[in-house]
Amino acid sequence: MADLNELTEKLSLLKKEIEAKIDTFSDSKEAFEFRKSLMDSKSGQIGSLMKEMGKIPNELKADYGKKVNEMKAWALSKFDELETSLKEKEMKKRYESESIDVTLPAKMRPIGNLHPITQVKNQVVDIFGSMGFDIFEGTEIENDYYNFTALNIPKDHPARDMQDTFYLSPDFLLRTQTSAGQIHVMEAQKPPIKIISPGKVFRSDDDATHSPMFTQMEGLVVDKGITLGDLQGLLNVFVEKIFGDGTTTRLRPSYFPFTEPSVEVDVSCFQCKGKGCKLCKGTGWIEVLGAGVVNKKVLEGCGIDSDVYSGIAFGIGIDRIAMLKYGINNIKLLFESDLRVLDQIND
Ligand code: PHE
Repeated sequence: MADLNELTEKLSLLKKEIEAKIDTFSDSKEAFEFRKSLMDSKSGQIGSLMKEMGKIPNELKADYGKKVNEMKAWALSKFDELETSLKEKEMKKRYESESIDVTLPAKMRPIGNLHPITQVKNQVVDIFGSMGFDIFEGTEIENDYYNFTALNIPKDHPARDMQDTFYLSPDFLLRTQTSAGQIHVMEAQKPPIKIISPGKVFRSDDDATHSPMFTQMEGLVVDKGITLGDLQGLLNVFVEKIFGDGTTTRLRPSYFPFTEPSVEVDVSCFQCKGKGCKLCKGTGWIEVLGAGVVNKKVLEGCGIDSDVYSGIAFGIGIDRIAMLKYGINNIKLLFESDLRVLDQIND
């Protein structure tokens, strides 16, 4: 080879070829592969040119090397440009495909609410809390003494039959009433005492209005000069707040071993305002809780002098209040977690 004409020609053809090809790429990966194949030192159309150096006469070697290097630099800068523009296009495409239409309406997520029993329990806690009552958290497992004996229900007392009990062992049981908490409080605390104690209780009982597990709220006030009048006074405040203005109470004689006298408390029907309707079975009154003056025997058993102090106690059925308030006629509906029911109840 006396001169480099052949090389020059070859390179200018190759340039044209590359220029034509470069315009056809739409994908940076393909372009990269093409560049790699061109530059391959063994088989590449540009990369392998240096291999030819041995065949070039010495006086042309410098020129040959320069031309090849120029070609290489040209091709590399072309590919750099190409790569930059392809990458830009690809990014633009990606951004467009990932763009968010901020004008689309938002997906509505369902908002949960508290269970009706929890709602009523919280309301009752708030009402008594505002009257200065403290909360005592009892335990669901009790022993026979706290659930019965200390509440003046000794073994073989017929009152034990009033509450079918789930026994865990001869001595331990699932509490049948939050009244068990009264004893714990009176043992631990000297009067004045003013507590409420909400919680689950358990009885082997199962029909439309009874569930083996339900929720009660005990109330206990012990101080000097506490009377049945105080009980009715604070229950009147309570029923007005929970069932609405104008609701009042009526006390009927009843029997609980741990209160004397004992009363059953009715509220005036908040639906018909006492005229008589389906809810109150035409009587104008609805039974809501048991209560009474704390039996002196119970006070004495807890080391409280019954000549100095007296007390009142009440047990509110939280589930019953929830059923009345929300018009639920089967207690099971409260425990079935049926969203069609639960969704309707949000105070
Ligand atoms: N513990 C009683 C019951 O479950 C209710 C009650 C509580 C009655 C406090 C009087 C005083 O039926």
